[in-house]
Amino acid sequence: LDINEMKPLFVAKPLLPELSDLTPLLQRIWTSQIVTNQGPLHNELEAELATLFDVPVSVLFNNGTSALQCALLALDLPQGSEVITTPLTFAATAHAITASGLTPVFADIDEDTLTLDPEAVARAITSKTRAVIGVHVYGTICDHARLAPLCREYDLYLAYDAAHAFASSLDGQPVAQLGDMNIFSLHATKLFNTFEGGLITSSNEEFNRSLRLVRNFGIVNEERVEMVGINGKMSELNAAIGLLNLKIFEQERSIRTKLRAQYDAAIDGLAGITKQVAQSNVQQSEQYYMVRVNKDAFGFSRDDVYEALKKHQIMSRRYFWPICTDFESYRGMPIITRHKTSVVERVKNDVLCLPFHSGVEDHHVATIAQVFHDLKAKARVKLAV
Ligand SMILES: Cc1ncc(COP(=O)(O)O)c(C=O)c1O
Repeated sequence: LDINEMKPLFVAKPLLPELSDLTPLLQRIWTSQIVTNQGPLHNELEAELATLFDVPVSVLFNNGTSALQCALLALDLPQGSEVITTPLTFAATAHAITASGLTPVFADIDEDTLTLDPEAVARAITSKTRAVIGVHVYGTICDHARLAPLCREYDLYLAYDAAHAFASSLDGQPVAQLGDMNIFSLHATKLFNTFEGGLITSSNEEFNRSLRLVRNFGIVNEERVEMVGINGKMSELNAAIGLLNLKIFEQERSIRTKLRAQYDAAIDGLAGITKQVAQSNVQQSEQYYMVRVNKDAFGFSRDDVYEALKKHQIMSRRYFWPICTDFESYRGMPIITRHKTSVVERVKNDVLCLPFHSGVEDHHVATIAQVFHDLKAKARVKLAV
C-alpha cells in the first residue's frame, strides 16, 4: 500500500458487537423504562461475570477509575493512610488513591515482569500502610505468590488493578479471584469493553455490601446515608454492550494470540529488542503487545522507533511513560527500591506498545517488521563508520 493511502493504525480498536444484535436489547430497555440504577441488563451482566469468574462478588461500575476509587472507599481506611503501588501504570491507579484521601507510595518494579517488586514493597511498608495495589501491567500477572503472604504478615489489603488482565488466569485460577479486590476497566480500549465501564470482583463475600453502597453515594435507603460514596453506577446501555461483547471477546483474544506470535517472529533475534515476558502459568488477556527497546544494544532509542513507525501511520504508544512520579502531582516522590537506582526509571524509556487487535493485518505486521529491521541495519552502518 502507498503510505499516503494508509489510514492510521492505532494501538487499540474497540470491540463492537453486531449492530443488529443490539436492537432487541434496546427494545428491552425501552420496554422496562429502566435506564440505570441497577437495571435488569446490568444485573444480568453482573451475574454472568460472577459465573464466568466463579466469584461471589461481581460489582459493575461506570468506569475503571470509579471502580478503583470505590474499592478504596469501601475499605474505609483512615485519611492519610498509605497505599503502596507501582509508578508504571496509568494515571488512574495513583489518582484513585489520592482522590480517596489516601497517600500513594511508589515501589519499584521487577526487571523481568515490570510488575511490583515484592522486596521493594516490603521496604515501603510503614506504620501508616494499609493496602497494596499491584497492577497486572500489559497483562503480565503480579508476583501473587510473594505479595499475598507479605500482605498477610503486615495485615494489609491486597488489591489488584486488573485493567489489563480481563479473563486472565494464574495457575488455572481466574485473576478475578486473586486479590481481596480485583479492579477491571471495561473501557473501549480493553479486550472486553462496555464502551465505558468498570468491574470489581472478590472471593470475599464481605465486600459485596460496602462496594454496592459506595457505588451509590453511600445510600442505604431513603432515610439513611451510611458512608461517603460516589456515583459509580453503570447504565443499561453500557450493560447491553457488555452482554453482547461477552459473547465475542474470546474470539478477539484468539486473534490477538496469533498476532502475538506474528509480532514475536517479526522481531525475533533483533539485538536490543526484548519481548514481554512469557509467563508459562498464565493465560494472557492479550491486552497489549509490549516490547522494550534498549538504545545501546539496538542502536536506536524507543522514541526513534516510535517516530519511525509514525511515518508509516503506525501509532504505537509509549505506555506507561511518563510514569506517575513524573506527573506534576507526584513529582519528587521517592520510588522505594532495593537497587541503587530504580528499575522503573530505566525501563520507562524503553517500553513501547504496538497496535494489538483484530484490525491489524498482515501488511501492517510486515511494515512494522520492516521498520525494526531497517533501523537495525542503519544502526549497524552507524557502528561500522
Ligand atoms: C492500569 C489501568 N488502571 C485503570 C484504568 C482506568 O480505567 P478507566 O479508563 O475505565 O477509568 C486504566 C485504563 O483505562 C488502566 O490502564
